[in-house]
Amino acid sequence: MRQAGRFLPAYKKIREKHEVLAICKDPELCAKVTSLPVEILGVDAAIMFADIMLPLEGMGVKLSIEEGVGPLIQEPITSYKSVQALENLDAAADVPYVLEAIRLTKKMLDGRAPLIGFSGAPFTLSSYLIEGRPTRDFAKVKSLMYREPKTWHALMKKLSDSMSRYLQAQIDAGVDAVQLFDSWVGCLSPQDYRNYVLPYSQQIFKNLTDAAVPRIHFGTNTSNFLEDMRRAGGDVFSIDWRIPIDAAWRRLGYDVAVQGNLDPAAMLADVEVLKSFAADVLGRVKGRVGHIFNLGHGMLPDTSAEVVAELVKFVHESTRSSGLR
Ligand code: CP3
Repeated sequence: MRQAGRFLPAYKKIREKHEVLAICKDPELCAKVTSLPVEILGVDAAIMFADIMLPLEGMGVKLSIEEGVGPLIQEPITSYKSVQALENLDAAADVPYVLEAIRLTKKMLDGRAPLIGFSGAPFTLSSYLIEGRPTRDFAKVKSLMYREPKTWHALMKKLSDSMSRYLQAQIDAGVDAVQLFDSWVGCLSPQDYRNYVLPYSQQIFKNLTDAAVPRIHFGTNTSNFLEDMRRAGGDVFSIDWRIPIDAAWRRLGYDVAVQGNLDPAAMLADVEVLKSFAADVLGRVKGRVGHIFNLGHGMLPDTSAEVVAELVKFVHESTRSSGLR
């Protein structure tokens, strides 16, 4: 998740002088920012400081990330021709700084925590590419999907090919796990997920079958089609707070791992209330091997770094005292 972003004072200080995308393109600075949550909060893994939009730039898309708004695309995708104009990603040539930052971060972390690489999933990327900006109703995306299936499928195919190569390049550069972020896929009905999205996310996981690293499949609002997400692939499934994590795990099957599922808003409650929410998550998974304690989605901007550090300590102590760590 966006764990360094927005709330760590040390990060905010760096952000005063550098834009998000500028940090991503400066491997030294990027490695430093990536390591901050491990140094300051004591979390058990680092996630590469990058953005899901970064490889799209490498595919020829002109974009910016606006503070408090999110990604903005200069010329959104509207036609088959604009899909054809998208270049296929060649990670080493198009985003060399991501791969260099991975190598530097691995050195900087020096085995203290594993490093997670990631990409956006085809649906979530296409939602920005077609809408041109964050959306609530996904009207343009669905309209293109229903009215111009040929354009839709061509776009999804191009994105799944490029993201497969991007994730493989990150694995080759040394990440210890990869995460596919399908943050907005929960706006779809189960049938639409199956028809328009599943084959493409599935293709990415298939392409990475031989990769010797765990593959995390992230989504929110997906409790209506968890079984389909499982069919699409992944070794670890991310669960948000809208469904109890034990119910989600039962449906997914105990042969996969789960991560989640604290509501990020719990971080804004009194610490004792926050701890009771965290204890509820831990109580539901009952120490079963294969649970990664996490939030259900990204950190909210008003979250206090001290509160996050307390939560990390609480989860460590709770799991240690039951012999789970
Ligand atoms: O250290 C970290 O926080 C990890 C780096 C990271 C960023 N983006 C940097 C960033 C990660 C893992 C992402 C993933 C990402 N980006 C996703 C998938 C995960 C999720 O949260 O659902 C998505 C959908 C995006 C697109 C995006 N970029 C959004 C929605 C925003 C937030 C806009 C806002 O301010 O409300 C961004 C901006 C962004 N990317 C920030 C960070 C740290 C925000 C903070 C800042 O402006 O410094």
